[in-house]
Amino acid sequence: MTEKYRVMVVGCGHVGLVTGASLAHIGHQVVCVDKNEERLSALTEGRVPFYEPGFGEFLAQSGSRLQFTTELAPAVREVDMVFITVDTPQGKDGSADLSNVATVARTIGRVLSGSHREHPLIVVNKSTVPVGSGDYVSMLIRDGAEEVGDGNANFLVASNPEFLREGTALYDSLFPDRIVVGADSRETLDSLRALYKPIIEQSFSTELDPRPKVAIPFVTTDLASAEMLKYAANAFLATKISFINEISNLCEMVGADVGSVAYGIGLDRRIGSRFLSAGIGWGGSCFPKDVAALRSMAYEYEGYQPMLLDAVVAVNERQRKHVISKLQRELHTLKGKRITLLGLSFKPNTDDLREAPSLKIAHALHSLGARVVGYDPVAGKATMMRSPGMLKVVFDPYEALAGAHAAVVVTDWDEFRALDLERAASLMHKPPLLVDGRNALDVREVEAAGIRYRGFGHG
Ligand code: UDX
Repeated sequence: MTEKYRVMVVGCGHVGLVTGASLAHIGHQVVCVDKNEERLSALTEGRVPFYEPGFGEFLAQSGSRLQFTTELAPAVREVDMVFITVDTPQGKDGSADLSNVATVARTIGRVLSGSHREHPLIVVNKSTVPVGSGDYVSMLIRDGAEEVGDGNANFLVASNPEFLREGTALYDSLFPDRIVVGADSRETLDSLRALYKPIIEQSFSTELDPRPKVAIPFVTTDLASAEMLKYAANAFLATKISFINEISNLCEMVGADVGSVAYGIGLDRRIGSRFLSAGIGWGGSCFPKDVAALRSMAYEYEGYQPMLLDAVVAVNERQRKHVISKLQRELHTLKGKRITLLGLSFKPNTDDLREAPSLKIAHALHSLGARVVGYDPVAGKATMMRSPGMLKVVFDPYEALAGAHAAVVVTDWDEFRALDLERAASLMHKPPLLVDGRNALDVREVEAAGIRYRGFGHG
């Protein structure tokens, strides 16, 4: 028998909603809290505030096990666990801004003060927070409790980092590679293990995944290690991509093909084949922010320079510039040239534009005097709001390509692999050029349609 918990999730962003819906799916009673009333009323009507394949249908199946409210305080009294999933935006110096986490912690403290709970409230940090934040949250809960009472609050703190990717968030939440929980007490670790039991044992009912079910590793650590583990995982993946991008630049110089190199090294199980796609580099809401936060944690220590992380970021920034140099090499001046960006979101299957290379590239092209046109299967409207003036957004790929001196594949949406290249060539300015920032298209097919192809990391 699986124990059923009453859980509150604070912050209805990507992580919060997917976590809440997944916990409801495995049988717990969940209430999701967000201070944004507009977002909440949309959710109660079943509208999801971001693009995530399959998530709307999944949310609708939760029924009464998933509720929404803007009122944090009353809900705290009713639940066994609180998951903090508010955002931790990047501050000016790169460090994570914890003000949203702090507000939630203080409020929890105020509610807990003097309330005579039978069991301690388990406060779980799922937001990505700097190492030491578990203790910081405990301090703020006690501060909140002191504001309204004697400071007595019955709670325990845990860290449960989230590894879900946008675009496959639901899958990553229900079929994770591992679940990580950090806490200083056995009781907390045991409660979280019991909460996640249906996922650990893969015993919940699902039509989503046909794989044979195997137990999911449940990793328990102290608080600081769980917090560091999340940063280290993202920094390692970002490093892997910057590494292959460095190799890809060397491949171009020596006349080698990065695709073959990546395939060959990836077969070594110590290396692994994933996250070795060369191109214009990483973006999104996690890698840039988390690598910056890790660097800023390192810089807090006098005299320590995180050399590898600095290089990982520098390589990534340089990859964006390579797009511009490739265009300049082929088209010479970019003044008056029409350049089409195919894909605007930071990766496929999301409408997220955070740290999207498209915006940086559009900005650079615009300042060099080019006319920039962009198309994206889902992020068009969001881009229009973010980039007035520097980029014209259209809603049909062929309209975007009409009259273009060059097209740049910025996001590897499947749709672009299925483009009618002959039609594209006939619409583009002659001779047409395609810079494939994701090495997503087949060189031979592009060239057979009469379009010059320039990828990343081919000699
Ligand atoms: C990432 C992590 O994967 C996830 O575990 C974490 O919790 C949040 O950050 P996400 O940002 O959604 O998830 O995207 P992901 O699929 O990991 O891609 C990150 C970036 O790397 C994208 O910009 C993508 O285009 C780029 N990338 C990925 C490459 O350039 N090459 C690759 O081989 C893989």
